[in-house]
Amino acid sequence: ATFATLAASGVASAAKPLVMGFSQVGAESEWRTANTRSIKDAARQAGVKLKFADAQQKQENQVKAIRSFIAQRVDVIAFSPVVESGWETVLREARNAKIPVILTDRAVNTADKTLYTTFIGSDFVEEGRRAGRWLVAHAAKTPERKLNIVELQGTVGSAPALDRQKGFAEAIAGNAKLKIVRSQTGDFTRAKGKEVMEAFLKAHGKAINVLYAHNDDMAIGAIQAIEEAGLKPGKDIVIISIDGVKGAFEAMIAGKLNVTVECSPLLGPQLMQVARDVVAGKPVPKRIVTEEGVFPAEVAAKEYPNRKY
Ligand code: AHR
Repeated sequence: ATFATLAASGVASAAKPLVMGFSQVGAESEWRTANTRSIKDAARQAGVKLKFADAQQKQENQVKAIRSFIAQRVDVIAFSPVVESGWETVLREARNAKIPVILTDRAVNTADKTLYTTFIGSDFVEEGRRAGRWLVAHAAKTPERKLNIVELQGTVGSAPALDRQKGFAEAIAGNAKLKIVRSQTGDFTRAKGKEVMEAFLKAHGKAINVLYAHNDDMAIGAIQAIEEAGLKPGKDIVIISIDGVKGAFEAMIAGKLNVTVECSPLLGPQLMQVARDVVAGKPVPKRIVTEEGVFPAEVAAKEYPNRKY
């Protein structure tokens, strides 16, 4: 029986509940809100006692939260690291305290991979490649000789920003028609996405053909900026983004976004199962990759009712 079925039958609740300390990045996007909901719901359903801390996009807050989980002697620590580097010290402290650490959503770039037990989440490089491949196929169908791309990057130093930039660049490399003219961070938020797109438009105006946004929220913010500049998002400027949140599907149905590459935030149930296995001393894979698709505007209306976030 799975933990969920044991919990539902009341067997697990008779035992001491597993205590998990979870440090979340923040509440910067529609994706993140769905991810938090998934983790909280899954913990409740699995009978896991969750100590949840929101880091407000600051690494120092995550380090503090992890130290406090260690002091409270939780059974397992899980976290989604805001940035990739700078985790060795606190992860060693967790190891010295014999508390296993599970990474969810975002990776760390420590040389010592034994500092964490497993990493559950998407392949962000592949998401960037998927975005790039969609554009290469689209570009082959357009008459223009050159397409100028602006890129709204995610949080500086975060795994999804670094990897999505890399995967996209790799996929469009060698295509003489495609050129990235500006790249800047919009910190994964709507407000910043809008602000940076305004600056891109001021600098390049109608010369911009394509926007590649590292997440849907920044694309949605940018759509507003494009409309305010008197241009048609999705037509005058082709827009590609990542996540697949409902807001992106609504924008596609309205003809304002061209494609979204899926990144699933629904990691909660898998996290609870893996945490239970880790605490029980069972072997778990070092890397658990989330399965995801690509949704162009043409399928948006049909897919919208199936979207869970
Ligand atoms: O780490 C996943 C990314 O973080 C999502 O793509 C983005 O929307 C979120 O803020």
